[in-house]
Amino acid sequence: MDSGRREMVLGVTALGAGLVVGVWLGKKLFSHRYSRSNKSHGGAKGDPLMEYLLQNSLREHPVLKKLRKRTLKEPGNLMMVACEEAQLLANLAKLIKAKKVIEIGVYTGYNTLNMALAVPADGRVVACDINMDFANIGKPFWKEAGVEHKIDLRIKSASETLDELLQAGEAETYDFAFIDADKLNYGLYYEKCLQLIRKGGIIAIDNVLWGGNVLSPGNDADTLSITKLNERIYRDSRVNITMLSIADGVTLVFKL
Ligand SMILES: C[S@@+](CC[C@H](N)C(=O)[O-])C[C@H]1O[C@@H](n2cnc3c(N)ncnc32)[C@H](O)[C@@H]1O
Ligand SMILES: *[C@@H]1O[C@H](CO)[C@@H](O)[C@H](O)[C@H]1NC(C)=O
Ligand SMILES: *[C@@H]1O[C@H](CO)[C@@H](O)[C@H](O)[C@H]1NC(C)=O
Repeated sequence: MDSGRREMVLGVTALGAGLVVGVWLGKKLFSHRYSRSNKSHGGAKGDPLMEYLLQNSLREHPVLKKLRKRTLKEPGNLMMVACEEAQLLANLAKLIKAKKVIEIGVYTGYNTLNMALAVPADGRVVACDINMDFANIGKPFWKEAGVEHKIDLRIKSASETLDELLQAGEAETYDFAFIDADKLNYGLYYEKCLQLIRKGGIIAIDNVLWGGNVLSPGNDADTLSITKLNERIYRDSRVNITMLSIADGVTLVFKL
């Protein structure tokens, strides 16, 4: 199979998994916008089908598991990527032999670590966030997993970091990007990532269903930013796409 076919087959498999959504049991403390999404953080206790899915498919690296448990102690833990979604991203990264990855929105670094584990020894994950305190929670785990050297943490607005990468002549050199930071800048992150990613590379965009709010955006700026990008990507002839209902919804963009 050529890589396009393989990506499609994997996408269809993931779609099957994504259809099985469960109840989340987390706290609503940090952001109500995350509260309507179905997260598997605590192992989906109380949702037998989601529990079954995780028990029969989650193969979490022991240090990723430790970091997930540690992050669950944080009030903002609903921001953490869903573990089964992260596993999909790692499989996709491996499938396309990703070496250079961009993570936009690190939080405590679950997916940053996940990606660092997925890329080869000489791979690199440029990890963008504005909050050092969150990243500091993850750092010891990156070290414990022995992949700290692959992670290039940049604490400043992700937009600035992406501009720096472009100015450094790194356009079309990245293999994979995960967009998961402030929703207002989603459109900007998408365009800059599209410049930085090579042909055949993948951009994954998180929270594209935004807890169902995309059905009635009203005047909410975050929701409108997400729906605007969803519509833009749907019409974008530069890419192939798949929108999955896994976790809070993720769109996979394959650059042509
Ligand atoms: C949903 S969390 C990221 C979750 C993460 N991908 C994971 O694996 O768990 C969003 C993060 O985006 C960060 N953020 C918010 N605005 C940002 C900006 N302008 N530039 C970079 N990061 C930003 C927040 O500090 C927060 O840590
Ligand atoms: C989350 O799961 C509940 C119960 O299975 C369901 O009613 C709800 O629609 C789901 N929400 C999303 C955003 O998928
Ligand atoms: C991918 O995009 C190309 C160009 O628009 C199109 O011809 C092809 O059918 C698309 N493939 C899929 C699986 O959507």
